Amino acid sequence: MLIQIPPASSSRESDVTPESVYLSRRSLLAVAGGLAATAALPRVARAEVSRYADVESVAAPTWFGEKLAGTRWQAVTAGDEVLTPFEDASHYNNFYEFGPDKGDPARNASQYKVEPWSVLVDGEVAKPGRYSLDDLFKPQQLEERIYRLRCVEAWSMVIPWLGFSLGDFLSRVEPTGQAKFVRFETIVDRERMVGQSSSFSLIDWPYVEGLRLDEAMHPLAILAVGMYGRVLPNQNGAPLRLVVPWKYGFKSIKSIVRISLTREQPKNTWQALAPNEYGFYANVNPAVDHPRWTQAHERRLPSSLFSPNVIPTRLFNGYDEVASLYSELDLRKNY
Ligand code: MTE
Repeated sequence: MLIQIPPASSSRESDVTPESVYLSRRSLLAVAGGLAATAALPRVARAEVSRYADVESVAAPTWFGEKLAGTRWQAVTAGDEVLTPFEDASHYNNFYEFGPDKGDPARNASQYKVEPWSVLVDGEVAKPGRYSLDDLFKPQQLEERIYRLRCVEAWSMVIPWLGFSLGDFLSRVEPTGQAKFVRFETIVDRERMVGQSSSFSLIDWPYVEGLRLDEAMHPLAILAVGMYGRVLPNQNGAPLRLVVPWKYGFKSIKSIVRISLTREQPKNTWQALAPNEYGFYANVNPAVDHPRWTQAHERRLPSSLFSPNVIPTRLFNGYDEVASLYSELDLRKNY
């Protein structure tokens, strides 16, 4: 499917401040060190990682490396917003399977083995089955989408994802006329995921998320397999995660092992835990506060006490093109 560059979120390629430029203002030495470190990589990985100066070099798995060469870079850009440094995006995470603190996922997930990996597709589809990453990937065009990520906790980032259209993938497995929702599930691995083995965790694993089928088919929704020109770090949801940029970050479920097309609206993890605080829709909305804090503003990372970097939050995180999906819905009731 041809992706139209959406009006509200789009801009010319030159409008984005590449992270290499941004970083070079702050830390020329770090940039030089980063580039030197990429020198030992195989050809494809070296060429693309160098787009992002502070990104650690990693060997790409075969399925990823093969696709990277044909990537549509900056298929969606994010206006004149500055990209979040890779260090922040990969060390300030929510991934409760690996612990509750922001630094836990980077600390605890680094040795996690994500290959081989497969995704079970079931429910209301004409082509159910278990899809390997190779199966998932072969027909897909890899694109770079630079999206804002707004967490319900009122911090945000701007991240260059690498992924492919969720809608294209769903069309391939052919939802039946009965399919109304898409339910996603993360892997359960109590032995190797310290957050799942913890007796303090309140979450009833697996982590579950869901979308209405028309939301899932929206061209902005993607399945991401990489970021910053490289394969996804484990703490960001390797090997496959959802990214729905107009919704609070908790909808963007990580390390997906199951995608089910359903007739009924699935109950997502946070909604099950605290239904008065977290809903099914979770559209970014500055006019609907969380019961315990305002959603009118957000802290754009990196931020500190001296430089809090607080900016106004925008309805649908600024992705106005999704508004028609909700024209019939009371967004206060359906938070
Ligand atoms: N997916 C799983 N499986 N487990 C999680 O704990 N946390 C969510 C979402 N996806 C989470 C998850 C939340 S609350 C947010 S804000 C984003 O992941 C954070 O993504 P990031 O760590 O890549 O910034």
